[in-house]
Amino acid sequence: MARIRQKSRNKSRDESCGNPSFIFKSIGFFCMFQLLRLPRATHLVHRNAAAEEAVSLPSTPPPAVEEETRAFKAHSALTPVVEQKRGTEILWWQKEKPLLKDWPYLPERRHILPWLEKLKFTKGIEVGVQRGFLARRTLSVWKSCKEYKLVDLWGADPNYKQPGRDTIAHHHAHLRKAQNILKPYTDRSITEFFVMRSVDAAPLFQDSYYDYVYLDARHDYCAVKEDIDAYWPKLRPGGILAGHDFIDAPSAVAALGPNKDWSHCEDGTLEPRAVKGAVEDFAASEGLDIVTTHEGFDTWLMQKPYDYKDSTA
Ligand SMILES: C[S@@+](CC[C@H](N)C(=O)[O-])C[C@H]1O[C@@H](n2cnc3c(N)ncnc32)[C@H](O)[C@@H]1O
Repeated sequence: MARIRQKSRNKSRDESCGNPSFIFKSIGFFCMFQLLRLPRATHLVHRNAAAEEAVSLPSTPPPAVEEETRAFKAHSALTPVVEQKRGTEILWWQKEKPLLKDWPYLPERRHILPWLEKLKFTKGIEVGVQRGFLARRTLSVWKSCKEYKLVDLWGADPNYKQPGRDTIAHHHAHLRKAQNILKPYTDRSITEFFVMRSVDAAPLFQDSYYDYVYLDARHDYCAVKEDIDAYWPKLRPGGILAGHDFIDAPSAVAALGPNKDWSHCEDGTLEPRAVKGAVEDFAASEGLDIVTTHEGFDTWLMQKPYDYKDSTA
């Protein structure tokens, strides 16, 4: 019994840390453990190197983008984008009556498009479609759009001498192109073509109904005024009227050449303020604010007030 007890005491000493064989075994286990860990450790180092490489990529955007980002941030800082309602954050576009003045900075006209979607707009008109490039781009972003009416003469207007060199053949080719690239939307009854003068098409559309109208047909003062007057009633209160080329005739000529002189109206009147003048005069007469993009040939936007009383209503 005593011997047995002695043996077991020796065994426990064998396994104690002071025993040399225990030390060797431990070193062996430690080395094997390290060897097993080696591939994982290498992988980790590799991943870290990749992460460092990503971080060390140039982080400064090119100047134009940087400029836009700065302006965007400055504008966003000024814009009251949220309000508290029963403890929930309401973003400006989720408000019952979102306002154009709360829209964020719009560098280019393509930056308008995501807001049409966010604002849950569903009905629009584009006046002056040409090859349909803007229409296609608009609908590719504005996925909730259910109706998008396309108005263009796609031909010569006897009352309007269009500056530029487009022949009838050009106009017909433009129409074919627009029909072709917008076919997926026409097949789903979203787009509908109105091959006629803008002012002749306007009475075909329901008043106080559309969320968004974009004007980009004629560019002289009288014609833009006529189109604004014809399409403003089509908007429902809160809807957005927008259009291209918020610019006067001398600036257009300076940028595009004498071919694009918009200073003469159909009746021969000289009005060099062209699109910009017509939009400014309408805004002044209705007491509206004008918001524009910032790309040279800017897009202008105006909102029909929610309490607007249409003379037709
Ligand atoms: C500048 S382009 C439109 C470009 C298009 N919005 C885009 O960005 O892709 C102007 C278009 O207005 C059309 N147009 C000119 N006078 C018109 C009129 N009185 N009624 C309807 N469309 C007209 C022209 O046929 C031309 O296709």
